[in-house]
Amino acid sequence: MNVLVVGSGGREHTLAWKLLQSPNVENVFCVPGNGGTALLPHCQNLPATEEDFSKIGQYAKEKAVAFVIVGPELPLAKGIRDFLEQQNIPVFGPTETGAQIEASKWWAKALMQDVGIPTAVGETFTDAETAKAYVTQQGAPIVVKADGLAAGKGVTVAETVESAHTAIEGLFAADTEQVVVEECLVGEEVSVLALTDGITVRPLLPAQDHKRIGEGDTGGNTGGMGAYAPAPLLSAERLAQVTETILQPTVDALRDRAIDYQGVLYAGLIVTPEGDSKVLEFNCRFGDPETQAILPLLETPLDEVIMACLEKRLHELPPLKWSSQKALCVVAASQGYPGSYEKGKEITGTTQDWDAFVFHAGTRLDAEGHLLTSGGRVLGVTGLGDDFDQAAEKAYSAIAQIKFSGCYYRSDIGYRVRS
Ligand code: AMP
Ligand code: GLY
Repeated sequence: MNVLVVGSGGREHTLAWKLLQSPNVENVFCVPGNGGTALLPHCQNLPATEEDFSKIGQYAKEKAVAFVIVGPELPLAKGIRDFLEQQNIPVFGPTETGAQIEASKWWAKALMQDVGIPTAVGETFTDAETAKAYVTQQGAPIVVKADGLAAGKGVTVAETVESAHTAIEGLFAADTEQVVVEECLVGEEVSVLALTDGITVRPLLPAQDHKRIGEGDTGGNTGGMGAYAPAPLLSAERLAQVTETILQPTVDALRDRAIDYQGVLYAGLIVTPEGDSKVLEFNCRFGDPETQAILPLLETPLDEVIMACLEKRLHELPPLKWSSQKALCVVAASQGYPGSYEKGKEITGTTQDWDAFVFHAGTRLDAEGHLLTSGGRVLGVTGLGDDFDQAAEKAYSAIAQIKFSGCYYRSDIGYRVRS
C-alpha cells in the first residue's frame, strides 16, 4: 500500500520511517515533508502546505494511498478529515469537532468535568475583571491558559496573584476570547498517547518529554527538547488505571456526543505525589518528540494498527508488540530557539551509519542536494539500549558528530532515569 503523511517535523519523519518498515507499505508521500523524508528510500516529498486540503486530496488520489495520516493539530482542527472523507479518502485523525479536545481548552475542560475525568479544577472567563476576581478569591499558585491553539505558549503557571492578573490582562489585550483559570497541579508530567477507533483505546508506551530549553528543565517553553520511553513513572498497573479512568471514559464521552473520534488521543498527565494521574491537557495527534522515542520500540506494523482503527476493529487486534529496550531522543535546535534564529546552515554527519536513528525536523535539501537547517528544532537523534544509560550514550555519541553552525542540544535529556 501507499500512505500519505501530512506534516514536516521529526514526528512525521518518524511516522514515514516506521510505516516503511512494514512489509505492507510500498511508498510513503509526505506533504510537505523535510530533508529527512526527502532522503528516506521509498519516500517522496510533495509540495503543498499542510492546510492545502484540496491539493492533499488530489495527491492522495493520484498516488492511490490507502490512508492519510495527519501529524500536526492545525489541519485536524481545520477539518482535514471531514474534507478528505467527503472524497472517500480515509484519514487517521479526528474530525474538526473531535479536534476541539486540543483546539479548545474550555471545551476539553467542560467535557472532563461533565464526565468526571480527573483534572485540575478550573473555570472559563470571557472578561478580565471576572477572571481576576476569581484568581484573587482562589489565591496563588494558579494557572492561566488561553483558549485555542497556542503551540504551548498560551500557558502561565503564576506563582503570585499579581502575575496571574498580568497574564489575564495580557491575554485579553491580545484579543483572546476565552481564558481558562485553573488549579495548579503538582507532580511529574508524563504523556500517554493512545490509538483509538472511536470505541476501543490502545495506549502506547508512556513517554516523558523535556519542554524547557535549558538544562535542568529551566528557561522558556519549546516544542520539546528530548523525550524517552517507556517512562517508568507509569507502571503497567498505573497505565491500566489511566486507560480505565481517563482514556476509555473520554472516548466513550466523545462517542456519546456523536463524535467519531478516531486517531490519537494524547493525554498530557501529571502524576501527583500520591500516585494519582490527572489530565493537564489533551492533544488530538502524536506528540513531538515523544513519537521519536515511542515508535522505534513498536514491533507491530504501524499500518496494521492504523487500518484496524480506520475499520473500527481495534478490539480484534492482538496486544501491541513492543521491544523490551529503552529509547531516548535528543533534539538539536538552532541557536536562539525558541526565540529568533537563523536558517540555512549546512548540516553534516547525518547520513553516517550511526548506531542511532536520526529523525529530521527543520531541515531541507537545496537544489544541489545540500542539507540545510530550516527551523528551530532541526533534528532528533534516538538511541536504543538495554537501559536508559545505554540509550543516552548512543544518542549522544551520534549527535556529537552531527554538525551545523549554532547547533544546540541539552546534555541532560532523561536525567530522571539515567544514573
Ligand atoms: P498545556 O499547554 O496545557 O500542556 O500546558 C503547558 C505546560 O504548562 C504543561 O506542560 C505544564 O508544565 C504546565 N501546566 C499546564 N496546566 C497546569 C496545571 N494545571 N498545573 C500545573 N502546571 C500546568
Ligand atoms: N511534546 C509535546 C507535544 O507534542 O505537544
